[in-house]
Amino acid sequence: MAKRFKSPGSYKTPAAFLERLREIDPSFGCDIDVVAGGALAAPLTIYGRTITNRFAIHPMEGWDGTLDGAPTEHTIRRWRRFGESGAGLIWGGEAMAVRHDGRANPNQLFINPSLDNAKILGDLRRELVSAHQAKNGASSCPYIGLQLTHSGRFARPNHIHLEPKIAFRHPLYNEKYKLADNHPLLTDAELAQIRDDFVAAARVAQSAGFDFVDIKACHAYLIHELLSAFDRPGKYGGNFENRTRLLLEIIAGIRAECPGLEIGVRLGLTDLPPHSAGVDGAGRPLEHQHLLPWRLGFGMNAAQPLLPDWTEPMALLKILQTLGIHLINVSVGTPYGSAHVQRPASYPPSDGYWPPVDPLFSVFRQLSAVRQAKSRFPDLIIVGSGYSYLQDFLPHVAQHEIRQGHVDLVGLGRMVLSYPDLPADVLAGRPLQRKRICRTFSDCTTGPRNHLLSGCFPLDDYYKQMPEAKFVKEKRAEIVQRFQ
Ligand SMILES: Cc1cc2nc3c(=O)[nH]c(=O)nc-3n(C[C@H](O)[C@H](O)[C@H](O)COP(=O)(O)O)c2cc1C
Repeated sequence: MAKRFKSPGSYKTPAAFLERLREIDPSFGCDIDVVAGGALAAPLTIYGRTITNRFAIHPMEGWDGTLDGAPTEHTIRRWRRFGESGAGLIWGGEAMAVRHDGRANPNQLFINPSLDNAKILGDLRRELVSAHQAKNGASSCPYIGLQLTHSGRFARPNHIHLEPKIAFRHPLYNEKYKLADNHPLLTDAELAQIRDDFVAAARVAQSAGFDFVDIKACHAYLIHELLSAFDRPGKYGGNFENRTRLLLEIIAGIRAECPGLEIGVRLGLTDLPPHSAGVDGAGRPLEHQHLLPWRLGFGMNAAQPLLPDWTEPMALLKILQTLGIHLINVSVGTPYGSAHVQRPASYPPSDGYWPPVDPLFSVFRQLSAVRQAKSRFPDLIIVGSGYSYLQDFLPHVAQHEIRQGHVDLVGLGRMVLSYPDLPADVLAGRPLQRKRICRTFSDCTTGPRNHLLSGCFPLDDYYKQMPEAKFVKEKRAEIVQRFQ
């Protein structure tokens, strides 16, 4: 049976938790006291707009749009709760596909030429703002972006089956997802069309009133995959210049067509070779020695791909900074091959694997990536990821990282699904509401992995009452039993 690790919530005091963090790495730390009006409440100016705290809400999909790509009541509720959090920055809302074949699932929002997308997205944004203002006063407004994506290899636009649009052949992902070796690659002309679709989607976002768009370049989706298209022929593959070309062309297109619209990039800074469950259920990297030197991921050491290589990620950040892009959201890993680092958790989703190491190591991997970026580019505004696993001590680590200047904004993912008021409570100096703290059961991922909607089934009454909740809970019991 896979080893289980002591969950952060079971540490009795911040001091005891700090001791454990120091064992992981002496530079990993947390503050003993979280101070109302302290570092997390420091204002920050982003592209000329000042926000009043250091919380950001990460983009999070609910697999709950209509088949034609519009939000449902569930989507609207989630966006309202993002607004109610009081966080100063809303990074993207959720991944919105720039075209139909780029959807990650048949319920993902997308730019549907038959709909009035600007009105639909404008209404969604207004819901978020009105929920924010109801709690924080009419003069308060977060800085809000829309995340634009094409799901590439992981596109499922029509039904539960993958309809992959790939940039290059990845032997391990091809095998894992049963993709034929002769599966066609997207042509350069098709990529150029996708570039134009990103620019057109940015125009829609601007008309809908968003302050910025995020060009999603993480989590193994198309723009991220292209960054590691070492073996792709033609102008979008091979050397660094070619692999970053599509991202930079999209940026140039948005600059030309949407003056006044700001840009952010959610960037996957490093990764691990794809993992799967070993006999004991714990994650193991798939056999990859025969693929060395490793040319199948971005920011990975070619000789030892379990280690990062920061050379190219830092070179890309430098280019982005030169282009005037100052807003970066750092992520690490992917939900498809290295979920234990991308969203560190106590429990795996139903198709996943048990954490191979204490998830705190994975949190530290996320924090270290941000520290790398921030120390080399102090003028960039950097949002960090992977904090939810810290549970009761999230505010303690968050304040520590901000205070030390390691990160500018603390991004909240799963935590905000169960406990959207966490930022408000922390900023007001109220104790955390323990019953609402995300315990990383991964039910929010198990739902979609079984083609259901996502939400916090264990803790949020809204989802708890849905018929899906029972199914998801049973799936969790199954995975626990299987490896006992
Ligand atoms: C249900 C769910 C939906 C997500 N949707 C997106 C998304 O649309 N775009 C994105 O960039 N990341 C998405 N993520 C990843 C989160 O933004 C975040 O990076 C991840 O959960 C780690 O942060 P956390 O530890 O605070 O949860 C999603 C994660 C979950 C659990």
